[in-house]
Amino acid sequence: MSFLELQDITKSYGTLNAVSDVTLSVEKGEFVSLLGPSGCGKTTTLQMIAGFVEPTSGTIRLDGRDITHAKANSRGLGIVFQSYALFPHMTVFDNVCFGLEMQRVPKGERRPRVEEALELVHLAAYAGRYPRELSGGQRQRVALARAIVIRPPVLLLDEPLSNLDAKLREAMQFELRDIQRKVGTTTVMVTHDQAEAFSISDRVVVMESGRITQIDQPYRIYEHPETEFISRFVGKTNLLPGTVQAVNDRAATVSLGGVPVEIDAGALVRGDTVTLCIRPEKLRLTGSGLGRLPGRVAERYFLGSQWLYHIDGPLGTLMAVTPNDGSAPLDTGEPVGLDWTPSVVRVHRGRLAEAPDPTLEAH
Ligand SMILES: Nc1ncnc2c1ncn2[C@@H]1O[C@H](COP(=O)(O)OP(=O)(O)OP(=O)(O)O)[C@@H](O)[C@H]1O
Ligand SMILES: [Mg+2]
Repeated sequence: MSFLELQDITKSYGTLNAVSDVTLSVEKGEFVSLLGPSGCGKTTTLQMIAGFVEPTSGTIRLDGRDITHAKANSRGLGIVFQSYALFPHMTVFDNVCFGLEMQRVPKGERRPRVEEALELVHLAAYAGRYPRELSGGQRQRVALARAIVIRPPVLLLDEPLSNLDAKLREAMQFELRDIQRKVGTTTVMVTHDQAEAFSISDRVVVMESGRITQIDQPYRIYEHPETEFISRFVGKTNLLPGTVQAVNDRAATVSLGGVPVEIDAGALVRGDTVTLCIRPEKLRLTGSGLGRLPGRVAERYFLGSQWLYHIDGPLGTLMAVTPNDGSAPLDTGEPVGLDWTPSVVRVHRGRLAEAPDPTLEAH
């Protein structure tokens, strides 16, 4: 049995199922992220674990104990809410100390524990300030310290870093992972930021419209997305609708609007309608006349560590990303070849509802 178990959890509001049949097992010490677009049920799921929202049906177990209907304060979990509510009339120190008082931790132990927690979030120098005297990011870190200080069996984090600037956010992601490893706390984090979910989680749980559609290690979610939605939501991707023309032992030929493309066969049969997904970084730009397809640079975008190109060709406009290795980028209008290794092509059955606009995919 896992440390934290959600079994067939559903939460309905009238006719809306905010969360449907969610089953999830989290091991002790594991860091799991719930990832998905706005409104997919992440916060509702977290609030049910926390005890602030009661499931309509299903069971939640913590360390073997059924806590489905247990009061929130009896669960003793550490929580950082999406809207992290600090006590405005209390200093940073007192805000963090509050949980220890509630837990009746002996007075002599409180100060060192609060100081240690503030140290972990780099706010030791702000202990005497009031929340109104802090930036949004600093308040968010106080909320984190307040959750960690009680040494909870499970830490629940709802977009804990959303108010930090890009640099601090990245630094805090590593910090958070470090803190979590050091303290060994089982953690469930909600985020709609895939880079954040990937960089710090052991496993990522992808949610769509109240349901879990994939639970996997970050690398697997990115490389082997199980639904078309995931391949679109997670990272950038080129989506190419086609039809299987021929299948032999190992390879299949897919016709993409009349252009034949070879891929690994998998379990395809002739006539299947498919959508091929190729990540932009897996497309290699070669010299004109080489590679699998001809193309021409339509646009280029500087991303700092990479160049993103829109390449016009027989399959429409494809995105390709190359590392910025310091050499001169390609010019718009320049003819190129496009190449890839067949094994990098992911195949989804069925056809997209609408043709993808690469600029919209580029988020
Ligand atoms: N108390 C409520 N009453 C009615 N509907 C609700 C309630 N709470 C949430 N919902 C609905 O349930 C769905 C899931 O909401 P939830 O807050 O879990 O989404 P989320 O994934 O956390 O989104 P976000 O990324 O925007 O925070 C939404 O459609 C929301 O409108
Ligand atoms: Mg939310």
